[in-house]
Parts: sequence; structure tokens; C-alpha cells
Amino acid sequence: MPGFPILPDGLPAAVRFAAQPIDAPDLEALARAAGIVSLDEAYPLPRRREFLAGRLAAQAALAQIGVRELVGRRGYAPVWPDGCCGSISHSNGVAVAVAGSALDWQALGVDLEPAPPAEVVPTLRRAFAPGEWQACQASPDPWVWARAWAAKEAAWKCASALGPAPRLDQLVAAWDSPTSGTLALVSATGTAVLRLHASDWQNMALVLAALPAR
Ligand SMILES: CC(C)(COP(=O)(O)OP(=O)(O)OC[C@H]1O[C@@H](n2cnc3c(N)ncnc32)[C@H](O)[C@@H]1OP(=O)(O)O)[C@@H](O)C(=O)NCCC(=O)NCCS
Repeated sequence: MPGFPILPDGLPAAVRFAAQPIDAPDLEALARAAGIVSLDEAYPLPRRREFLAGRLAAQAALAQIGVRELVGRRGYAPVWPDGCCGSISHSNGVAVAVAGSALDWQALGVDLEPAPPAEVVPTLRRAFAPGEWQACQASPDPWVWARAWAAKEAAWKCASALGPAPRLDQLVAAWDSPTSGTLALVSATGTAVLRLHASDWQNMALVLAALPAR
């Protein structure tokens, strides 16, 4: 992908990644050629373009595992072709997608977040558990906030692919290192442990949440 040659660090080999700049001049033509149907014109143009970029990235990620079908949509949620799972995120002019085989993964979630500006941080309070909030506040590194927020959103997307997702404040990452961690997904049927992979990609935190196949 021109302009985005670098794969995020630390992604498992069985997760395929693709990126699509949202401002590509030929975005609509590329999407049309791929058979991707745009959102209707009631949506503002920037939203329609980020949607197309996300779907193009998803198509490119799926192609890497040999899947030619397109991602559908149920409500706001993407619907992945049978035998696959994946996730989409967009931020700061770029859309990214991950895809993998259901033989390897029950569900995937990806999120891309810039460091939140200082004035935005207080508005995130309700999405954080108390100890988690304190730990982030104790760090002078804005990347810690971006990583924590991206981990929640990635885990939420991953959980949502499995059933009703927990509240964001119940999605608390435990980091073993700056780039690797886990997140316990507690439900009525038990606890599933998501694997987290974080990287600093295009000056944003990119987090993958992945639940391995049973
Ligand atoms: C849905 C949500 C995770 C999207 O994250 P975001 O950072 O706002 O936006 P992103 O660009 O990263 O992701 C958007 C993509 O998420 C995907 N998505 C939307 N709903 C989804 C769902 N239920 N499951 C999985 N993926 C979903 C879509 O692919 C969407 O892109 P598209 O519509 O162009 O295809 C986010 O809105 C959210 O916060 N959900 C939690 C709900 C909640 O508890 N909110 C309280 C806030 S305090």
C-alpha cells in the first residue's frame, strides 16, 4: 500500500493486515471495481469515504488468506465471510483491517487511536475501571492512554463478534510488555482470554485483540 509500507510490529503470522489511505483520489473507483457498495448519500462524504476505505482494506486483508468474498453489514457491525473473522478501524486519514481464518481465531478486533488530547482525557473517565484510570494518569506518556483506549475498542469489537459485548470499563488490559498483553472477557458462560498486540503505527496506537480458536 503506497505510503503505508510498514506492517505493524508483533502481529501473529495468522493475522493478515491491510491499510488504505482514505484520501486516495481513486477511492470510489477502486471500491466500485471491487464491487463494494457505498453507504447511501444521507451519510456525509467523509463518512462514506472512510467506510469505503475500511472495506477496501478488509478486502485486501481477506485476499491474503485467499478469500474473495466481501464483508457484509448487519446494523453497524461488519459481517465476515464464512470461515473468516476480522475487524476494521479508521483514524487520521487511514483505514486498517485485519482478517484471519476461523481455523485460527474465534474473533478479531482492531483499533487505531492517536493519543487523546489532554482536554479529551477526562471525557474518557467512565470507560475506565478505577485502577486502570489511576495507572494511566500516573504515566506521563500519552501513548499509554492511546494504547489503553485502543485496547478497549479492539476488545469491544472482538467481544461483539462473539455476542453482546461488555461495557468498556469492564474491558481492562493487562500488559506484560509495552506491546503484548491479555484481556479477560468475562461472560455468563465463563472467561475467555483475548491476546493483545500493540504497536506504534503511523504515530498512533494500533491494537489487535485476538481470541484463538478452541
Ligand atoms: C463501535 C466502536 C468500537 C467503533 O470504534 P471507533 O474507535 O469509534 O471507530 P473505528 O473507526 O475504530 O471503528 C469503526 C468500525 O468498527 C466496526 N464496528 C462497528 N460496530 C461493530 C460491532 N458491533 N462489532 C464489531 N465491529 C464493529 C465497523 O467496521 C466500523 O467501520 P465501518 O462502519 O466503516 O465498517 C465504538 O463506537 C464504541 O465505542 N463501541 C463501544 C460502545 C460503548 O460502550 N460506548 C460507550 C462509550 S464510553
